[in-house]
Amino acid sequence: MFISFEGTEGVGKTTLIRKLHEHFQHLAKDVVLTREPGGTPMAEQIRSLLLSVNHEETMSNDTELLLMYAARAQHLEAVILPALAADKIVLCDRFTDSSFAYQCAGRGLDREKLKVLNDGFVARMPDITFWLDAPIETGMLRARERGALDRFEQEKATFFEKVRSGFAEIHENEPARMKRLDATQTPEQVFQQALLHLQQI
Ligand code: TYD
Repeated sequence: MFISFEGTEGVGKTTLIRKLHEHFQHLAKDVVLTREPGGTPMAEQIRSLLLSVNHEETMSNDTELLLMYAARAQHLEAVILPALAADKIVLCDRFTDSSFAYQCAGRGLDREKLKVLNDGFVARMPDITFWLDAPIETGMLRARERGALDRFEQEKATFFEKVRSGFAEIHENEPARMKRLDATQTPEQVFQQALLHLQQI
């Protein structure tokens, strides 16, 4: 089973992933915990390039999209697909929905470009995706409390509103795959919401 986790900054993805990881381990399941952009040494280097604020030039939106997919291609081939082939459960912090929400809805990139990349380079979509949804202000506050802001976290609230509406659009179009979790609830309640969905599939 391939499970991905999505949402804007500071909505508590990491906490939910940790709880589910423990839950599956408790059930003696083989679980792989990974993230995007990143998840392999090479993809993590691409992640550094994507998140760094210390560039002497502005990263173009196309470059940002292509780097996301370069990292994703490596991650799929080296980590995700082999784990799924070995019947492991893959918990992935962000996947293609982030590209739609951040690069298309947020940055305004042409959706056709994303479609070409998804059709050509993404052999496997998640079986279920948890979208942790909460008002933008809550998450931005939490992100700021965590310390130095990365290149995405430095964006303004209006950008994150667009990203949030991007996730909402996917949720509307693919309700069977993408499940919305109310991330304003306590970590335990969010975890219980996720478990209910998992029991259903
Ligand atoms: P992440 O570490 O999950 O951020 P956070 O912990 O703040 O939620 O992801 C890093 C950033 O990369 C995040 O701001 C969203 C962005 N991103 C995209 O813009 N497109 C993508 O396809 C992915 C996977 C991430």
